[in-house]
This record gives sequence, C-alpha cells and structure tokens, in this order.
Amino acid sequence: MKKIPFVWAALGLALLPWRSAQAATGPGEALFVTHCAPCHGRDGRLGRNGAHNLTQSNLTAFGRSYLVQNGLGKMPAFKKQLSPLAIEQVVQYSLTLK
Ligand code: HEC
Repeated sequence: MKKIPFVWAALGLALLPWRSAQAATGPGEALFVTHCAPCHGRDGRLGRNGAHNLTQSNLTAFGRSYLVQNGLGKMPAFKKQLSPLAIEQVVQYSLTLK
C-alpha cells in the first residue's frame, strides 16, 4: 500500500509540463476559437470558405503573423481587430495544430 502515494506524486510531476504548456497556449486558443475557427475549424481542418488546412501548413510563425495581419484572398486581415500580442498568441496556438 506504500506505493500508492508515490504513484500519485509521479503522475503529478509527469503532468506538470503538460499543464504549463496548456496555460501558455490559453489566450491563443480562445482567440483562435473566436476569430479563426469559423473558417479553419477548432482543429484547423474545417476548410470553410476555402480556408487552408492549418495542420498541413508549412508556414513559419513569421509567415503566419504576416498573413494574419494582412490577410490574403478570402482570408481576412486582422491587424485592426487584434493587437500584435494577440496575433502572436493566436499564431503560436495555430502552430500547435498538428
Ligand atoms: C473568413 C474565413 C477565414 C478566417 C476567419 C480565417 N482564415 Fe485563415 N485562411 C482563410 C483562407 C481562404 C485561406 C487561404 C488564403 C489563400 O491562400 O488564398 C487561409 C489561410 C490561412 C493560413 C495559411 C495556411 C497555408 O499554409 O496555406 C494561415 C496560417 C491562416 N489562414 C491562419 C488563420 C488564423 C490564425 C486565423 C484567425 C486569426 C484565420 N486564419 C482566420 C480563411 C480564413
């Protein structure tokens, strides 16, 4: 029976990095759901209005930020709606979609 607390402690430690990673993507995820998911879908694969599948995008953070700021074709520009920080957060979140 002595083993059980140890198992819980090990589990807690194993989950710590995961929990802080979640916290880091928090604001980006909320922004993504509001501003991007209508076309791209929560998982990045929806493809509504001709949106590209974000899980297959090779664009870097720099390229994505530029695109989100300025738009392209049917993709709207967000620089009037979102602050530079919010754009960075939403782009970081988009990079986690695999
Ligand atoms: C009105 C629908 C719409 C919304 C809302 C939208 N997008 Fe897009 N997105 C598109 C379309 C359409 C394209 C393809 C643009 C093209 O190449 O002509 C695209 C392309 C992209 C690409 C390039 C993918 C690639 O490699 O080809 C990225 C990255 C992207 N969107 C991110 C976002 C993010 C982040 C948001 C939210 C801030 C967002 N989009 C909101 C429609 C949308």
